[in-house]
Amino acid sequence: MENRKIKWGIVGLGNIAHQFAADLLLIEDAELAAVSSRDIFKADEFASKYNVSKRYNSYEALFADEDVDVVYIATPHDSHAELSIQALENGKHVLCEKPIALSYKDAQRMIEASKKHNKFFMEAFWARFIPAVQDVLAKTQNGIIGDVNYIKADFAFVGSETENIRLFDKNRGGGALFDIGVYPLFLSYIMFGIPKEIIAKSIYYKNGIDLQTSMILQYENAQAVLHSSIVSESDMKAQIGGTKGRIELNSPWFMADGYSVFKNEEKEAVFTLPTLGKGYSHEIIECNNCILNNQIESKLWSHQNSLDLSEIVEEIKTQIRLPF
Ligand SMILES: NC(=O)c1ccc[n+]([C@@H]2O[C@H](COP(=O)([O-])OP(=O)(O)OC[C@H]3O[C@@H](n4cnc5c(N)ncnc54)[C@H](OP(=O)(O)O)[C@@H]3O)[C@@H](O)[C@H]2O)c1
Repeated sequence: MENRKIKWGIVGLGNIAHQFAADLLLIEDAELAAVSSRDIFKADEFASKYNVSKRYNSYEALFADEDVDVVYIATPHDSHAELSIQALENGKHVLCEKPIALSYKDAQRMIEASKKHNKFFMEAFWARFIPAVQDVLAKTQNGIIGDVNYIKADFAFVGSETENIRLFDKNRGGGALFDIGVYPLFLSYIMFGIPKEIIAKSIYYKNGIDLQTSMILQYENAQAVLHSSIVSESDMKAQIGGTKGRIELNSPWFMADGYSVFKNEEKEAVFTLPTLGKGYSHEIIECNNCILNNQIESKLWSHQNSLDLSEIVEEIKTQIRLPF
């Protein structure tokens, strides 16, 4: 493996870009080399805050910067496919925010571009890399709670149309499923794979996007009961049940700092596994390692994993008839 600093660029300087940049500064072999916004004042402010030397007022200019190794796409869902493909065509490695795209077809095009240009590409499913989720996956595979046959997980909060504009905007791929429903679906997918059957029901906003979506995923010998909402609160613990006990991931489960194992309704063990920074650092480390090893995909969240999840989301999108 090479030994050098990986130079990152960020396009789209909104909410998640700030959180990501703060975590990136914690990684020794990563450097935030450039940032890009449609608004140069925003780019200047962001660059000063995180000590970034280059700032641009167009995404294309950042894609053309020869100093940048890997681009983090932090824009709304509807732009993920075109921007990722553009970055890959410019010879950049890409980490693209979730959900990978608004359609399975677009997800395929993104992965084809990664293969064609021989550049690393990953969907930013950061929860896959946090220590608590990694450990739960390993321990359940080793039978800590027997045969795993049940998951109950959700992601819900009360959003507001004035503060979370893109969440309620159908042109940006808004709604619960694409923004946060993908998280419980991800948990079910990493535990059980692709379901045999899915039943999904939604409650809608006036423009047709989903405010709440509940999903049942049916597997050969397991079921997942999942929920996502941008109009209700929840404790956001995830529960994984098996024939010999159950696991409860601490809230919020997708950035859990640990979990508990229960057997016969008694708490048998508590595992404390804090994240580095907010938790985005773990996916950044994975990207750096893959790039330094000349891999175009991660083994932990592979191209096929993203395609599978996109296929599941597409089935639900069709069932609940989303307007995009
Ligand atoms: N991993 C996570 O924990 C996590 C958390 C939140 C969001 N996300 C994902 O990250 C993406 C961005 O979410 P966010 O919450 O950061 O959104 P946000 O605060 O609205 O920021 C998105 C940024 O994208 C840029 N942009 C480009 N075209 C745009 C358009 N037509 N409308 C609005 N903004 C546009 C803007 O940056 P400029 O003005 O600087 O160009 C904007 O600030 C989404 O896909 C979301 O699912 C992930």
